[in-house]
Amino acid sequence: MWMVILLLAGRLAAAIAEQEPPITIHPDCPSQCGDMSIPYPFGMKPGCFLPGFEVTCNDTFIPHRAFIAYGAFQQSMTGFYTPPDQGNETFVLNDGLVNTPMELMDISLSSAYVRAYAMVSSDCKINSTHHSFVRRRTYAPAPSFLISASHNVLIGVGLNVEAELSDSMHGTFGTEISRCTSLPTRVIAKDGPCRGQGCCEAALPNDVPFIAPVADKKRTEWWRAGTNCSTAMLVHKGWYNYSSADVYGGEAYFSNKFPKGVPQVFDFAIGNGSCPAQGQPSPQGYACLSGNSSCLDATNRTGYVCKCWEHYDGNPYVPGGCQDIDECVLRERHPQLQALYPCSSGGICKDRLGGYDCPCKPGMKGDGKTGTCTEKFPLPAKVAVGVVGGISIAFVLVLFVLFMSERKKMRQSFIRNGGPLLEKINNIKIFREAELKRITKNYSHVLGSGAFGVVYKGFLDDRHIAVKKSKNITKAQKDQFTNEVIVQSRVIHKNIVRLIGCCLEVDVPILVYEFISNGSLEDILYDKSRIPLTIDQRLVIAAESAEGLAYMHSKTSANIQHGDVKPANILLDDTYTPKISDFGISRLIARGDAQHSEEVIGDNNYMDPVYRETGLLTDKSDVYSFGLVLFELITGKKANCGDNCSFVLNHLGTYTRDNRANVMYDMKIKEEKDFELLQILAEIARKCLHHNVEERPEMTDIAESLQNIRKARNK
Ligand SMILES: *[C@@H]1O[C@H](CO)[C@@H](O)[C@H](O)[C@H]1NC(C)=O
Ligand SMILES: *[C@@H]1O[C@H](CO)[C@@H](O)[C@H](O)[C@H]1NC(C)=O
Ligand SMILES: *[C@@H]1O[C@H](CO)[C@@H](O)[C@H](O)[C@H]1NC(C)=O
Ligand SMILES: *[C@@H]1O[C@H](CO)[C@@H](O)[C@H](O)[C@H]1NC(C)=O
Ligand SMILES: *[C@@H]1O[C@H](CO)[C@@H](O)[C@H](O)[C@H]1NC(C)=O
Ligand SMILES: *[C@@H]1O[C@H](CO)[C@@H](O)[C@H](O)[C@H]1NC(C)=O
Ligand SMILES: *[C@@H]1O[C@H](CO)[C@@H](O)[C@H](O)[C@H]1NC(C)=O
Ligand SMILES: *[C@@H]1O[C@H](CO)[C@@H](O)[C@H](O)[C@H]1NC(C)=O
Repeated sequence: MWMVILLLAGRLAAAIAEQEPPITIHPDCPSQCGDMSIPYPFGMKPGCFLPGFEVTCNDTFIPHRAFIAYGAFQQSMTGFYTPPDQGNETFVLNDGLVNTPMELMDISLSSAYVRAYAMVSSDCKINSTHHSFVRRRTYAPAPSFLISASHNVLIGVGLNVEAELSDSMHGTFGTEISRCTSLPTRVIAKDGPCRGQGCCEAALPNDVPFIAPVADKKRTEWWRAGTNCSTAMLVHKGWYNYSSADVYGGEAYFSNKFPKGVPQVFDFAIGNGSCPAQGQPSPQGYACLSGNSSCLDATNRTGYVCKCWEHYDGNPYVPGGCQDIDECVLRERHPQLQALYPCSSGGICKDRLGGYDCPCKPGMKGDGKTGTCTEKFPLPAKVAVGVVGGISIAFVLVLFVLFMSERKKMRQSFIRNGGPLLEKINNIKIFREAELKRITKNYSHVLGSGAFGVVYKGFLDDRHIAVKKSKNITKAQKDQFTNEVIVQSRVIHKNIVRLIGCCLEVDVPILVYEFISNGSLEDILYDKSRIPLTIDQRLVIAAESAEGLAYMHSKTSANIQHGDVKPANILLDDTYTPKISDFGISRLIARGDAQHSEEVIGDNNYMDPVYRETGLLTDKSDVYSFGLVLFELITGKKANCGDNCSFVLNHLGTYTRDNRANVMYDMKIKEEKDFELLQILAEIARKCLHHNVEERPEMTDIAESLQNIRKARNK
């Protein structure tokens, strides 16, 4: 059965190949005789076959019939005899031996055999004393052929029959090869497999070059059996189906039933040598000419055969003969092949060179070849996925609604934070919230934090920036926000930290400033790990800070107080140029028109006691605070002014008056030649800190004085 299917698969594969692969060695070689295909090494014209594989095509028949030209034939012998139990044994031959060529039934290159028709042998009682007999001997010798032991069987038909395979047509005179007997019973078995009643079957031990099946009726059972013939045949295994009518018939009956004869199988092999050893060059005349093929040594004989690789089909004996099989197309066209090329309904058949795959359909796991495709998600899981999917969609919808309301909220914040007003200001960039998140790498690098909020480092257009995010916003602070932005947008001065932009979409306003690299004056004065400032650097810091403050106090269209002047709010860039920062509590005041703050805000240590008392912030409050900065610059000591700042005043008062000021100066800059300068600065500081506001100098005056001192010193 498998053989038949394999054969079918092979032929079909050849049939569906787009371009038929060649089966003959040369295009001029005929490939067909009648209905039969004649593949190389078999052939009909000189040059079209290998030695021993010539086929003659007899065109007197329609359709034409193919015969094995040489090597294989069948010999027949007929005659009469008297069995010994019937008296003196006689043996009479009718004629001499008759040889007939073997007609081909088909050629299988993949199984390396041919099937040829042969006539049966029989033995019949014709009268009380005599038997007639027909005996056949098949020849199919090496090197080309051998009678196949694996594909043929001996069949005996008849009641109480004894069938024998011998190398001689004279039966017992020759060498017995195999034998079978049917049961000595009168009961004739129904149609079906050979089971011993009316039919027997036996195998061949090995391939043989010639063989004769001999039938013999057990003599003692002669008449009682009710039948007078027995038949023996060597036939392709599985081909013969027992039928009850056959037990009555002899040679004539079978010749009528199977006019061409019964198929016998001959294994063929090429040459009388063997396959070239691995790595050895192919010998002259090597027959395995196709790629995708391999050579196999014939078993128990000389010669070899060629086979297409597994999953390839065609003629391995001609170049380009072996081609890939498209198992998937075969499966589709011929359902009987689905067992040979399994691919379960859960799989998708996919052809590839040298085989095929059967991956499971999407959503399934396993392998379709072994029929193990199962749903990745069984129904409960699917339901679960559905539910989860539904919930997800609902969740996304909710998110969307939240997003829209968030956008509305952003817009409201934007308006509330004075967005429409700020949009009109040219030199301020309005940032989106997401943009700032990106710029600050999600607020990952904290630069510092103060009373007003946290400052983060960011990166925008190839330079660093400082992003100040307010915290704990109160109503008062919120109102200040727009104010601060507007104030700052107008302040463009080299000694004032520049505001780059802001973000208004959030509840808590965010301000973006230029980044000042060297930290604050406080850091540099009191951090022991840093290189101390020289006296000249200190002078520059004092002078330029004063300029910045003076600019705010007088040079802008509106009068602006800082309100929180202290070393921590004076930042230094890489050239130690001071830049005043943190206008968190700056007020916008119309020039000359003092205004009350709602609350007194600022660093207590640097706060003008007058401001603290009255809550009235004036230019002179900044002057006071600047005096303390000056004090710290020359003494290197923290001002630490409480309510009355007696420590500072004592120092300044006592030492400057007694001309003992050198005691209080910063050890790091204290040099004899600079005493005069330090003295002058101490004097300015003292004036700034005057308890009487009117006595304090204006910021512009201070800036001018310090600038003059600088110029004088640089001469
Ligand atoms: C063809 O078959 C016929 C009838 O059996 C026979 O007479 C003839 O010789 C055959 N021809 C060849 C070429 O074998
Ligand atoms: C058998 O042969 C013997 C001697 O050759 C002869 O005497 C005898 O009659 C024969 N028997 C029969 C049945 O012919
Ligand atoms: C078988 O025997 C019967 C009677 O003995 C006879 O009529 C018949 O012709 C025989 N059949 C054959 C094939 O010889
Ligand atoms: C049986 O048949 C054979 C062969 O035809 C014949 O020679 C013989 O005389 C016959 N015997 C009888 C008893 O009829
Ligand atoms: C090969 O020959 C040996 C000995 O002759 C025998 O035993 C064996 O079964 C044979 N194998 C085949 C496949 O014919
Ligand atoms: C024997 O039976 C099988 C299955 O029914 C069939 O394929 C085959 O052709 C039969 N053989 C013969 C000689 O009729
Ligand atoms: C083997 O085959 C070669 C070439 O076909 C041939 O010359 C040689 O005679 C053969 N030998 C035998 C022992 O058959
Ligand atoms: C081997 O098979 C592949 C697929 O059918 C084919 O394309 C190729 O030509 C074959 N190779 C040879 C050398 O025949």
